[in-house]
Amino acid sequence: MIRDVLRMGDERLLQRAVEVERFGTPETTALLQALLTDMRDTMAHLNGAGLAAPQIGVGLRVVIFGVTANPRYPDAEEVPDTVLVNPVLTPLSDEIEESWEGCLSVPGMRGWVPRWRSLRYAGFDQHGHRFERTVEGFHARVVQHECDHLDGILYPMRIRDLTKFGFNDALFPGQDLPAEE
Ligand code: NI
Repeated sequence: MIRDVLRMGDERLLQRAVEVERFGTPETTALLQALLTDMRDTMAHLNGAGLAAPQIGVGLRVVIFGVTANPRYPDAEEVPDTVLVNPVLTPLSDEIEESWEGCLSVPGMRGWVPRWRSLRYAGFDQHGHRFERTVEGFHARVVQHECDHLDGILYPMRIRDLTKFGFNDALFPGQDLPAEE
């Protein structure tokens, strides 16, 4: 089911989401299945690149993301469709990279956001199987953006130079932009 995405200003976006517990029980499996169906439907409806459960008002540490490579957006590398529950992020160096981001909870805007360039992330898939990946660049950026939602952080709170925050059509007139997250 397509759900409403909360927008910046809603206090539910500012709260810390809680861990999913008791994987594998029928209750948790059913709850996750229903939640992920709604998250996928909502993200697809909005052509998003990622979505965190708190964005649809569910305060659990669950994110989804995935980007298909598109030659129009050379900076937006392919990112596999991923379900990530109870994520833990570990930066792999001090290197910071800045780039433009958009968010489904801040529609129609972009900001220039610093992120760790490379990191390892670990967590669980929808079946409760643990996995981890080492990523960098755009993939690392998407993960950091989504996981920030689980800690009540929206990308504008990370912008260092607010002259690089604005409306899409004012910042990039006439341009198609990559998906929001
Ligand atoms: Ni977002």
